[in-house]
Amino acid sequence: MNIIIGSDHGGFELKEICRKIMETLKDCHATDAGTFSEDSMDYPQVAHKVAEAVSKGEFERGILICGTGIGMSVVANRYSGVRACLCHNLFTARLSREHNDANILVMGGRVIGKGIAIEMVELFLRTPFEGGRHELRLSQIETF
Ligand code: RB5
Repeated sequence: MNIIIGSDHGGFELKEICRKIMETLKDCHATDAGTFSEDSMDYPQVAHKVAEAVSKGEFERGILICGTGIGMSVVANRYSGVRACLCHNLFTARLSREHNDANILVMGGRVIGKGIAIEMVELFLRTPFEGGRHELRLSQIETF
């Protein structure tokens, strides 16, 4: 699975941890969209890069991390076909896949612990979409 991961400075430390974990996972290739240091930068720059790449189908999944995860999810969900889910624990990470078919996992680097984040990434990557009644709901998302 091809994944694109990105963060701002508020998520940089957690992004580095998640990226390194993904390098150890079988059948997982992670591309780093930045940022590449803890210097202050604007989260929309990275959110646009990751969300556009997922929206265009260049990557199957994405991961975005900022301080709270809020800014990243607001930007990413403007893209067609992107379902960026801000998750805070194992329950929401699992349900984001089973019910929402999340294609971008969003986390807050200043909100959650490293251990939980690593398990959330693993759940996000291996949990299948349940389909069924959730298919219809997803189809209604882009219908106004
Ligand atoms: C940066 O200070 C912070 O605003 C950003 O990381 C994020 O939390 C925005 O939603």
